[in-house]
Amino acid sequence: MESTSPQLKRVLGRWNLVNLGIGAIIGAGIFVLTGTAAAQYAGPAIILSFVIAAVVCLLAGLCYAEFASMIPRAGSAYTYALATLGKTAAWIIGWDLILEYLFAASTVAVGWSGYVVSFLRDFGIIVPAHLAQAPLSYDPTGGWHLTGAFLNLPAMGIIFLVSVLLYLGIKESIRFNTIIVVVKLSVILLFIGFGLSHVDTANFSPFIPPNMGTTGIFGVSGVFRAAAVIFFAYIGFDAVSTAAQECKNPQKDLPFGILGSLAISTILYILVAYVLTGVVNYTQLNVPDPIAVGVNAMGASLVWLRPLIKLGAICGLSSVILVMLMGQSRIFFAMATDGFLPKGLANVHTKFQTPSLTTVLTGGASMLVAGLFPIGLLGELVSIGTLFAFAIVCAGILVLRKTRPDLPRPFRTPWVPLVPILGILAAVGQMAALPKDTWIRLVVWMAIGGVIYMFYGRKVDTSRLDMFSGEG
Ligand code: ALA
Repeated sequence: MESTSPQLKRVLGRWNLVNLGIGAIIGAGIFVLTGTAAAQYAGPAIILSFVIAAVVCLLAGLCYAEFASMIPRAGSAYTYALATLGKTAAWIIGWDLILEYLFAASTVAVGWSGYVVSFLRDFGIIVPAHLAQAPLSYDPTGGWHLTGAFLNLPAMGIIFLVSVLLYLGIKESIRFNTIIVVVKLSVILLFIGFGLSHVDTANFSPFIPPNMGTTGIFGVSGVFRAAAVIFFAYIGFDAVSTAAQECKNPQKDLPFGILGSLAISTILYILVAYVLTGVVNYTQLNVPDPIAVGVNAMGASLVWLRPLIKLGAICGLSSVILVMLMGQSRIFFAMATDGFLPKGLANVHTKFQTPSLTTVLTGGASMLVAGLFPIGLLGELVSIGTLFAFAIVCAGILVLRKTRPDLPRPFRTPWVPLVPILGILAAVGQMAALPKDTWIRLVVWMAIGGVIYMFYGRKVDTSRLDMFSGEG
């Protein structure tokens, strides 16, 4: 059934790419994290935190857009690093991107499981806790321990279903993504539309609650701490670039998809944050379902909106899982094409024209992670891994402008070197705002990658690869 000759199918247009970006971006971040970040760190100034995180993403997004327009090849930041900084950097980033894509899919699948279990409970269907929770747990004082649960089966199930869809075709996957994006955008627009007239400006005072004596707990430092937390909500626009070998006109459409999806999501996030902190006092938002709490506060006449919010969240999380798994399988595909993973994995399915083997590999690994580990452990690792990739991509733009100024650039990052330098500083600044534990995990993960590189990746010959030719 499999052969090496077929190519990935070039079927995606520019609006498909915008949808893909929105599919990946809007998910657990806005539906889950917004409330906690407002209640614990920023108060109503969470609106500013969303603006700050958007600026960080825009700086990186402009650099991604230039690369995507020049290098129409799956692999995203991994490919860009290989083209500019050499194979060691490429391996480091390829390994790091597993934290972003594979772990994000697993994290969001665990969130999905929580939402579905609670949705079913509203209809009287009880999923036993030991079948919907991780068997492993970690706390900073006690270390690792067993919870007594078997596996998080709903989380594994959604990854399995999405992987089957990705295996069967990019067109089918995109169609599913588009339907889901329409549902989740409708729910968010309903929330904003009904919420705007219920905003009570008294809830915005004080807009930035005074600092409590600890850095990051309210005050200006709290606004930045919250920006680092809700950065997770923006992750995903870069996933658009992994579809480079499946779009019809990558040079023009990838920058449009990356920047378009980021712009639409930013506007929606700022409006949601405004409505949420305007209808509910921020002190009441330390909950896992802040948007539902916002609807409750709008009065009994809107009770019908509550189940829709849950449904919107479930849909939202499903498309994040879909696009993240798609992105990871394309990155593995590019790495296998280049020899960083066994070359046999770079197969394209003869009938479905999908990277079938890397899709199976990605799905299997992601199911394992989602089935075994708790959500808290995974989320911040995803953020730090993504920020690291952003910094490398911004650095890559600086390098390539110097080493290959002659190359055609259908999209040019404006104000180089200012934008990439600010992009690096912003990404590193946000990484610095994440807890020490997360840094330790990043270092351990990268050290494991380093050992694999010493024994395997270092021997790969990448000297004859042409990154700028368009096909892997
Ligand atoms: N941005 C994605 C989410 O919020 C990862 O779920």
